[in-house]
Amino acid sequence: MPEIRSVSRRLLLGGALATTGALAAGGGASQAAAAPRAAVAPPRRPGQTSMIDVPYPAHRTVRVGVIGLGNRGSGMTTGWAAVPGCTVTAVCDIRADRAKRTADGLANAGKPRPAEYGGSADAYQRMLSRDDIDLVYIATPWEFHYPQGKAALLAGKHVIVELPIATELDELWDLVDTSERTRRHLMLAENCSYGRNELAMLKMAHEGLFGDITNGHGGYLHDLRALLFSDTYYTDSWRRLWHTRSTASFYAMHGLAPIAAAMDINRGDRMATLTATATAPKGLADYRARFVPRGHPSWNETYVNGDLVTCLIETAQGRIIRAEHDVSSPRPYSRINTLAGSRGIFEDYAGVVSAGGGRIYVEPDHSGHSWRDFGSYRKEFDHWLWKKIGDDAENNGGHGGMDYVLQWRTVQLMRAGLVPDIDVYDSAAWCAPVPLSVMSLAANGRPVQIPDFTRGAWVNLRMGLDSRTTEMPPVA
Ligand SMILES: NC(=O)c1ccc[n+]([C@@H]2O[C@H](COP(=O)([O-])OP(=O)(O)OC[C@H]3O[C@@H](n4cnc5c(N)ncnc54)[C@H](O)[C@@H]3O)[C@@H](O)[C@H]2O)c1
Repeated sequence: MPEIRSVSRRLLLGGALATTGALAAGGGASQAAAAPRAAVAPPRRPGQTSMIDVPYPAHRTVRVGVIGLGNRGSGMTTGWAAVPGCTVTAVCDIRADRAKRTADGLANAGKPRPAEYGGSADAYQRMLSRDDIDLVYIATPWEFHYPQGKAALLAGKHVIVELPIATELDELWDLVDTSERTRRHLMLAENCSYGRNELAMLKMAHEGLFGDITNGHGGYLHDLRALLFSDTYYTDSWRRLWHTRSTASFYAMHGLAPIAAAMDINRGDRMATLTATATAPKGLADYRARFVPRGHPSWNETYVNGDLVTCLIETAQGRIIRAEHDVSSPRPYSRINTLAGSRGIFEDYAGVVSAGGGRIYVEPDHSGHSWRDFGSYRKEFDHWLWKKIGDDAENNGGHGGMDYVLQWRTVQLMRAGLVPDIDVYDSAAWCAPVPLSVMSLAANGRPVQIPDFTRGAWVNLRMGLDSRTTEMPPVA
């Protein structure tokens, strides 16, 4: 096991590896939970082994191929090209003009011109047959993530996929198995896990500031109504159409993943059961009635996705995570980021954003029942990645710099031949609430079991986003 600075303190505190009553009993709610299809691990094929703690082969440079060049993919392409030792060698969009626009943009910025692919839904397959791509980045609509991610693995590439990596349980299992069989890594492009506050929260949790972590709360609460009804933002309105299909927690990972990391999910604990609730689907129809002209194609649609979908997740260690998703109600943005334990609590998105956002209360530092500003804690527990490249990140990337931190770190891990911070097991676990919320709601809100994608290896404490300082290899 790698050296982990915080292990001893966590163990002393009775943290991640303590065998609680809930763990001994196999998880509280999980006893009564219905087992959805594919909750039980399918057997591995002969010779198939885990990808846990498997390092990337060291790459002199990382050559990226991008699939999907809309709002997200085009911006992230610029970010990949800005990372030292990383080159974008090919770009693909079903709309060939977007591939040309992106290639022109890189060439005009003085970067090598990537090869262009486009014009058909399967043009990406031709791109995948190139032998000068090490990493495929996928930023297409959700329905394409699974087939494109799987195809990229089968083509021998490492893969980073926008949220979610897949929307069905059997697809999640198939990505885990395909990663294990091809010996290629696939990870969720979970940029918020590299957010400055999120990483400081993680370090504080692992240093024991919150004592025994008992509960956390995260989510994706973003009023997307104007964008969902825009005819120029989401291509072919793909994201609004998902709201006509099912009630699901489509996109809670931005808030769920940092809480899961702080709780050592897949690294000493695991998410065991999920119970979903949903409010009525009111927001989109109400917005359309007030702001969208009659005759707009959206008037043929019926929205079924509940506005606020809440997943209560119980872990094997008896902790509770509340993960929320709401993109159809009027409200200021929040990913919540709340973590609490026997010695204190952190709440993000509660304070003044310019002052770092969060508020905190931890014993013995604080008493008297009043919140304190997070600023000095954020400074003290700043993650090495932000200390090292925070200025570059803020100049180079979106979302306050965390996109660039994700990209820089991914390239560094591949160039230095290190173990991924986020692996296919984390990615599958964080995305499992998409199908599991549907299943729990279909079962009248009964708990459903969350698969153990690690097939038992979750009990082992190991490093993840809470990594040790390492250098980016020099560019030759
Ligand atoms: N991590 C984040 O912070 C973040 C932010 C925004 C979006 N996203 C994710 O990024 C993805 C893309 O979102 P977006 O806002 O850019 O959407 P978008 O509609 O702007 O872009 C999607 C692109 O995919 C292309 N496309 C569709 N089918 C394709 C195919 N078969 N082959 C190649 N290209 C194809 C479309 O032509 C379009 O250019 C989504 O999964 C979204 O959830 C993540």
